[in-house]
Amino acid sequence: MNHEINRERFLDSLLEMGQIGKNGKGVNRLALNDSDKKARDRLIEWFREENLEVLIDPIGNISGLRKGKDKHKPPVMVGSHLDTVKKAGIYDGALGVLAGLAIIRYLNQEDIQTNQSVAVTSFTNEEGARFQPDMMGSMVCTGKLDPETAYKAKDDDGITVKEELQRIGYLGKDRIFASHYLELHVEQGPILHSENLQIGVVEGVQGMAWWDAEYFGEANHAGTTPLHLRKDALLATAETCVKIREIAERIGNETVVTMGRLQLKPDIRNVIPSSTFFTIDFRQYKTDLYEAGQKTIVNQIKETTKKHGLEYTLTKTVDAKPVKFQNNMVSLIEEKTRQLGFNYKRMHSGAGHDAQFMTHICPTAMIFVPSINGKSHSPEEFTTKNDCINGANLLLNCVLDLANHSNM
Ligand code: HGY
Ligand code: MN
Ligand code: MN
Repeated sequence: MNHEINRERFLDSLLEMGQIGKNGKGVNRLALNDSDKKARDRLIEWFREENLEVLIDPIGNISGLRKGKDKHKPPVMVGSHLDTVKKAGIYDGALGVLAGLAIIRYLNQEDIQTNQSVAVTSFTNEEGARFQPDMMGSMVCTGKLDPETAYKAKDDDGITVKEELQRIGYLGKDRIFASHYLELHVEQGPILHSENLQIGVVEGVQGMAWWDAEYFGEANHAGTTPLHLRKDALLATAETCVKIREIAERIGNETVVTMGRLQLKPDIRNVIPSSTFFTIDFRQYKTDLYEAGQKTIVNQIKETTKKHGLEYTLTKTVDAKPVKFQNNMVSLIEEKTRQLGFNYKRMHSGAGHDAQFMTHICPTAMIFVPSINGKSHSPEEFTTKNDCINGANLLLNCVLDLANHSNM
């Protein structure tokens, strides 16, 4: 028998969540801001309506726990995140959390008593848009990041993670566990939509390296300083931007690199820029290319700063290694996908996800549903209602299989 969630309640919750943090075009629920708090509070209200035990851990991860017959085994966990980038869509993260809520509502409505407990988790600061590193909540939950280190992370205004957790009331003491972890997420890329497929059976996640960089040159007069005497921090940064793109193109194999943030000083039209701050986001699925590509980028920065006579700082803020999910979990998703009659393909994820860390502590896998025209991290992000429902129903059937007779 194929189980199906209650469509209307699921879609209503997804659309209501999409209004929290809505500001003009796009959603702004930057981690731990007031809108993120409102989203958290609303999720906990929904958890309490379903009589879940609510757990909040030291980094503010929220878990709703529905007890199974076996009180000793840790729960089968589904989850994702509610924080967003600045001008986000409504699906990235929220789809996975609210599909988990829909599963709980189904189990309660059908009065199904699962062998294992089932948990729905929303991880803190998956995006890393305000505080770095990203996937902060799942890194702390899996022991990959010490909470005390996470607490010290600061945003552009110098506010720390710990101050914000205290301010919004989400500095918890509980521990959350998982025997298995499944995450439903929009693909955020063009593949499923362009190939007219309903489901992505995700085999792994590509590696993601983030750096913060600063170049220090010399401010000087734009009119009187000859070109050969300049220490122009912006010129060197512009060269770096082109060079890292050339590095990615030489590596090939779907390597991507992005200089997403750039600030310069003194930012006066007739003064040679004395310093810049910029970020680099480098991604690659193959471990050897991922590791080698990082070294090439660092060497390029050394070369360029030397050529321009600059000092520099380079701080690695994220090093999320490429991961492959456990075969039996990927096969379970594939088997249920076939059973439900969806057309699909196996693929890996271009975006980072909390599953990238959960896979280090328990059998993990992901389900993708199409992003129309591959748009994401933008207000144009869109996934059809049917695709959202398909993903949630597939997740439900996988959870029931795991929670009732898993021997993985
Ligand atoms: O950047 C990412 O891929 C994730 O959304 N944090
Ligand atoms: Mn996400
Ligand atoms: Mn995202």
